[in-house]
Amino acid sequence: MSIQIIPVDPFDYVVFGGSGDLALRKLFPALYERDLDGQLPDDARIIGASRSVLSNDDFTAKVENSLRKYIPSDRIDDTALSRFIGRLSYCAVDATSDAGWQDLHATLDGRNSVVRAFYLSVTPKLYEDICERLNRFDLITSETRVVLEKPIGTNGQTANEINNAVGRYFDETQIYRIDHYLGKETVQNLMALRFANVFFEPIWNRQYIDHVQITVAETLGLEGRTYYDGSGATRDMVQNHIMQLLCLTAMEPPAHMDADAVRDEKLKVLKALDPITSDNVAQLTVRGQYTAGSSGGQAVPGYLDELGIDQSQTETFVAMRAEVKNWRWNGVPFYLRTGKRLPKRVSEIVIQFRELPHSIFTDVTGGKITANRLVIRLQPDEGVEQYMMIKDPGPGGFRFKEIPLDMSFADAMDSRNPDAYERLLLDVIRGNQTLFMRRDEVRAAWNWIDPILEAWSEQAKKPANYSAGSWGPSASTALIERDGRSWHGEND
Ligand code: BG6
Repeated sequence: MSIQIIPVDPFDYVVFGGSGDLALRKLFPALYERDLDGQLPDDARIIGASRSVLSNDDFTAKVENSLRKYIPSDRIDDTALSRFIGRLSYCAVDATSDAGWQDLHATLDGRNSVVRAFYLSVTPKLYEDICERLNRFDLITSETRVVLEKPIGTNGQTANEINNAVGRYFDETQIYRIDHYLGKETVQNLMALRFANVFFEPIWNRQYIDHVQITVAETLGLEGRTYYDGSGATRDMVQNHIMQLLCLTAMEPPAHMDADAVRDEKLKVLKALDPITSDNVAQLTVRGQYTAGSSGGQAVPGYLDELGIDQSQTETFVAMRAEVKNWRWNGVPFYLRTGKRLPKRVSEIVIQFRELPHSIFTDVTGGKITANRLVIRLQPDEGVEQYMMIKDPGPGGFRFKEIPLDMSFADAMDSRNPDAYERLLLDVIRGNQTLFMRRDEVRAAWNWIDPILEAWSEQAKKPANYSAGSWGPSASTALIERDGRSWHGEND
């Protein structure tokens, strides 16, 4: 099956932070891939903007190097590469002074009718300065959109300040808050699975589902990202990626697939989350920080050593037991966990169904009937596994065996799995906000996270240590085992 390519309208994509890591590693490769597939019109331009003084040639050489580094060699095509390079130009622009802004104006001048997207791949501290200058230098047209990278704030209040600052110059319909997890193929597939198949919906509720697990495990450690110490796993991964996955799993079927219908339903889930406060934070959450251990068979240093400091209370692992208090989900725990330096890289949503109400098999001669489980693997090896009971073939009595009906998307489709940014960057041009977070969603997510962060800070308890290469502190296992359940895959 081949991907259907629908070309987008002509555009000017201005990437602030254009010589930075995200732009070089993800954004330009994603745009190149779409160009290679023929989705960019001739009249599409990409403009790098940042404070560094670079010539056009320096910039294009940087981008070309990164394409050669991050794009698989079988996707490097010389004709497509030179066409893509021909779309690039560079403007040295200082977000905190007026230097360079007239040049940017001149670069964009005369193209007011094409879609114009400003991608702010810079620290959120600069969002206000940039938006104010975009306005003052008359760069915002009716076709303009602004794309905001996370983190949007470090709590509800700072997120609000950022949203207010950007909102002074842009209407909500022009603001695209990226959560790249929403652009992942399997995350969108979660919607297809739930709403394009008839048999899940009747059992997708507290009557049939015992609990849900959402795990985003990484093997990588800090990798030089010093900003991480100011954020930690909860702000970096839970407030956005994991809560978005929770929303897509728990939301009611939207009436349409349009942006507001989907986002309205996600918002209801966020608002229905049972608060975790200082009264129950110790029972419902676990924080961890990795110490030296091993990853992929190699010895690796602990978090503090990587960071080069003696002390930090920042969590590199978090596990939580959340509940969505509504008719569909009341009483169904959602166990959430994420961490760095875990034994394997895996992101998955596990739907654990309830035990049979009654078994007719009284003289089972082998195996045991275990409750059904649906595992939605987001990465790697994207796919879905439905664990079912079967009769182990052979004469004499019933022996039971659990087998996965395994649908790996790589096997099912012969097309490449596009990177999340490929979809999202062009959704901005198409003006489709479905996979972007609306302001009230960000607000509601912080409303749930803020009391947790406050409770941790009041209790001033250090995160528990875990060795790199393990599944987090033992308290994480205890969190779920206390309820008579266990983490999927932990003992594989
Ligand atoms: C980012 C986080 O949003 O997501 C990183 O800031 C994390 O800390 C990354 O490593 C994980 O993304 P992916 O797509 O590799 O799962």
